[in-house]
Amino acid sequence: MCGIIGYVGSKSAKEEILDGLKMLEYRGYDSAGICCFEKGKFSLIKKKGKVATLVEACQGQLKDVHCGIGHTRWATHGDPSDKNAHPFLSENNSVAIVHNGIIENFEVLKGSLQKQGVRFRSDTDSEVIAQLLQKSKCESELKKVQELSTLLKGSYAIAILFKGLENQIFAIRKNSPLIVGKSKDGFYLSSDVNALVDKTDEYHIMEENEIIWIDNNDCYAFDEHLQAKEIVYNKMNLTKQDISRGAFEHYMLKEIMQVPNAIKNTIQECDAVINPYMKLPREMIKELRHITIIGCGTAYNAGLTASHYAREREILVDCVYASEYRYRKFLPIENEICIFISQSGETADTIEALKIAKEHSIPTIVVTNVASSTLNKLADFIIPTKAGPEIAVASTKAYNAQITALYGLMDYIYCIKHKLNCRSCILKDKLDDVVKKLEHYSFKKVNELADIIKESERVFYIGRGVDYATSQEASLKLKEISNIHSESLYAGELKHGTLALIDEHTTVIAIATQKSLFDKTLNSIYEIKARGARVILVTQFEVDIEAVDMLIDLPCTDQAIMAEIAIYPMQMLAYKTAVLKGLDPDKPRNLAKSVTVE
Ligand code: F6R
Repeated sequence: MCGIIGYVGSKSAKEEILDGLKMLEYRGYDSAGICCFEKGKFSLIKKKGKVATLVEACQGQLKDVHCGIGHTRWATHGDPSDKNAHPFLSENNSVAIVHNGIIENFEVLKGSLQKQGVRFRSDTDSEVIAQLLQKSKCESELKKVQELSTLLKGSYAIAILFKGLENQIFAIRKNSPLIVGKSKDGFYLSSDVNALVDKTDEYHIMEENEIIWIDNNDCYAFDEHLQAKEIVYNKMNLTKQDISRGAFEHYMLKEIMQVPNAIKNTIQECDAVINPYMKLPREMIKELRHITIIGCGTAYNAGLTASHYAREREILVDCVYASEYRYRKFLPIENEICIFISQSGETADTIEALKIAKEHSIPTIVVTNVASSTLNKLADFIIPTKAGPEIAVASTKAYNAQITALYGLMDYIYCIKHKLNCRSCILKDKLDDVVKKLEHYSFKKVNELADIIKESERVFYIGRGVDYATSQEASLKLKEISNIHSESLYAGELKHGTLALIDEHTTVIAIATQKSLFDKTLNSIYEIKARGARVILVTQFEVDIEAVDMLIDLPCTDQAIMAEIAIYPMQMLAYKTAVLKGLDPDKPRNLAKSVTVE
């Protein structure tokens, strides 16, 4: 959700910032901009459109620049346009800023500045930051930056340039991520670690309310009271290969092909001699009465999938969307724990939901893919997924890694509660089998199906039990990257309303991997066929049913973990359909990865 980059050093700030923006583009791509010190003045270039448009506009410009800030935007306040693109300059051009987050009280602040005669150039909330800094009466720039935290409400990661302080960048953050990178050629600021790979050897994750001041020689950190702090640097352990597209046409394709590895690496982590489950206090698990799983989008769907696995192990689980959890009336449940799932670990709704759970002293566990993330810092316990960097906006391999980690967790809880020896090797063997089968999966039928789906007006996915959870995720994938209207339904619910929408223009994809529910789903298939719709069946069972127009065969594995397999062709179906429609699956319309705003 908006990407920020900053650079001070001996290299060309233009090249470093544009490179960084390309890596951060998955966070937003409706406009992009750059501002550098050039001969003592600000040179600003910003453009509506993707980073490539900005790169073109920068050709022949910004020739000898060594300090600057850049931004790639996902619009919240104000339409995507040149004027609403970041960076913003203050009215007298003495301050330049880029911002990621939402300033919730911007209207009040803007109104008061306008009363003082300040003229605004954009419709954004962010511009108030530049104007406030210009108007500040504080004696030093550092104090002006500190003062922001007393004025701004909401979430922000901000990088700032002050005219007259050439080759210096200031930064502050609250509820939005910002990272400092250190290299022999200078210092960087970035919204994530990925943009710093191959550029820096070390990085520092800025803490809440931390203030950073970078000059030509060094980087200094301060707390909210401007007390100097020591900067803790972590070693960069990602490589260029981890974050590049390689020979793949899109990141999403690369990431789907990495699903088997994501499962394999996550099992390894969870099967280690000292694994993350063992860090959970035994007493807490023994006493455990209820689990609430919280997440957004795909992460929520992973929770829903795992909740069926948990139920089979007599563990009571509820799944709640983070955006609902944070505002619903809180009711205490005795001996409850909350599990938060998030690929990025930076999703604003999930972070706020976790804070609420902590306020009520509920033990919190996070399942995340990014070790440096905010959620990891906040939670009591961490279960890491090992999917590797996920860059395509649509989540794929992270989903499989999440359910893998959750299966392990539910088994662990079951064993402790029933005083059994925890034998993670049983699950490991089953998951190894899944990995092998996915590695050899043929997408031939999926390609044929994508050819049909690309012409569809609407697609319904149906399933019962855990297959409903898979159908939720499959439907989300299709709608977000192919722009085809799609919905998922409990198969048994069709006849209670949605059947009215089923006709010969409809395609219904039925997912049926559970033996005990198969015949029930079949009933729904007959009801659908009778209304003229095209029916696709996704199953591992050998069937020959006239009502089914196409069968997507799944390889067989233990039924309890079939969701790992069933989602695989569905991820590819969404990808292929988007490509056939000429859409960019990595950058779906109106979306961005890592939703750091509410
Ligand atoms: C869908 C998708 C989103 C994310 C959601 C949560 O393909 O990627 O629905 O799953 O925004 O993101 P994380 O997992 O980073 O909290």
